[in-house]
Amino acid sequence: MSTVDEHEKDVPSEDSGGKSPSPPEQKGKATAYVIFFFFVGLIASLIVGWIIFPQLLYSQKKQPIDFNHALHVDLTGDCSSCHYFRTDGTFSGVPTLWGCIDCHEEVQGDDPEEEKFVTEYVWEYKEVPWLVYSRQPDCVFFSHAAHVLNGGMDCVTCHGHIGESEHTRIYEENRITGYSRDIWGRNISGFKRNSWDRMKMDDCADCHEEARDSATKDEPRAPLGRLIDNVIRVGFPGTYADNKGGSVQTQRGACFKCHQ
Ligand code: HEC
Ligand code: HEC
Ligand code: HEC
Ligand code: HEC
Ligand code: HEC
Repeated sequence: MSTVDEHEKDVPSEDSGGKSPSPPEQKGKATAYVIFFFFVGLIASLIVGWIIFPQLLYSQKKQPIDFNHALHVDLTGDCSSCHYFRTDGTFSGVPTLWGCIDCHEEVQGDDPEEEKFVTEYVWEYKEVPWLVYSRQPDCVFFSHAAHVLNGGMDCVTCHGHIGESEHTRIYEENRITGYSRDIWGRNISGFKRNSWDRMKMDDCADCHEEARDSATKDEPRAPLGRLIDNVIRVGFPGTYADNKGGSVQTQRGACFKCHQ
């Protein structure tokens, strides 16, 4: 037993005080290692979470045909020859072959995309399986007439500058939900620069809230004001923020406005 004790004395230990040969540099080194590995771990998890995970989460798909909006808008003058409202108020959406066939019964130029379009789709009477960037889940009800005809809103507000583009961009599909990336947006920090960066439930609701505020002639709420309203709504239901007409999402039956 005593031999073990004597042996242990030779081993420099942490609590052997000033007499210990364990030099302060060694302690400093250990701390440096801890800090070093902490940052390595932190950076690695940030890379995984912010770069690798989103990359794995979305699969990339090319549109079947690279469609040139700018060229066609120049030819037709505006959007409504292809994207129009039917007499019953429903929106035509992406055009079918009938919107193209007048000009593309035969190949007119030497653009390989046009040739592919005419030979593989027009001549085969096959609709082009366009991928719709803005497509919402089936449970969401959205009406273009309410926004464009009644609301007087511009396409760019929600879709960005697709109507002026010369090439279709890559469509990204969420592997888990099957939804388009345009719904949740590209910026995973949640920061939104343009109104068309994403179209999640909150984005629809935020704009509706602003529209309600300006309709009731309240000052439009700044983001901080809206945050405070929301905290009050959740924490103290039935108090003032609720009585101001309420958020589109807290009114009774509000969910059924967009989920019918
Ligand atoms: C008013 C006539 C007109 C209509 C309608 C029209 N196109 Fe075109 N399209 C043209 C002309 C002109 C060109 C240029 C021909 C060329 O140089 O190949 C063209 C070129 C193209 C090309 C090759 C250039 C590109 O966009 O990448 C594709 C693909 C195409 N059209 C697809 C369509 C589709 C799909 C529709 C229906 C939604 C359509 N077009 C409707 C006139 C029309
Ligand atoms: C010649 C027909 C034609 C004209 C004119 C036209 N488009 Fe399109 N549009 C298409 C076709 C075909 C697609 C599907 C391919 C694609 O996404 O580019 C499309 C797709 C779109 C989409 C994408 C919807 C989504 O979420 O995937 C938007 C937005 C759009 N068009 C807006 C416009 C605007 C704005 C204009 C007028 C400035 C316009 N388009 C003029 C044929 C047309
Ligand atoms: C208030 C926002 C908003 C405005 C304004 C708007 N859109 Fe959309 N658009 C959407 C949403 C949301 C969808 C997806 C609808 C769905 O999946 O049910 C969509 C879908 C589409 C589609 C694809 C439809 C399909 O076939 O599924 C096209 C094309 C389109 N919009 C074009 C336009 C054009 C052109 C304009 C301007 C005249 C316009 N949009 C204005 C929000 C908007
Ligand atoms: C940029 C502003 C804006 C965005 C974004 C927006 N909306 Fe709207 N929405 C409006 C306005 C304004 C109206 C009222 C239009 C009118 O005067 O009838 C409206 C009306 C509606 C209505 C009709 C309500 C009624 O009382 O008949 C529905 C449904 C709706 N929006 C769903 C949606 C959905 C779903 C989304 C998101 C995918 C969305 N909206 C995005 C501004 C917006
Ligand atoms: C202003 C329109 C709007 C209102 C009001 C609204 N939602 Fe939504 N909701 C959406 C849109 C758009 C999506 C799809 C995009 C997303 O996931 O954020 C969605 C998605 C959802 C989903 C996920 C469905 C899926 O398949 O991913 C649930 C659950 C949901 N909403 C529940 C509710 C409930 C509960 C309410 C009422 C408190 C409500 N929503 C009110 C627009 C709305």
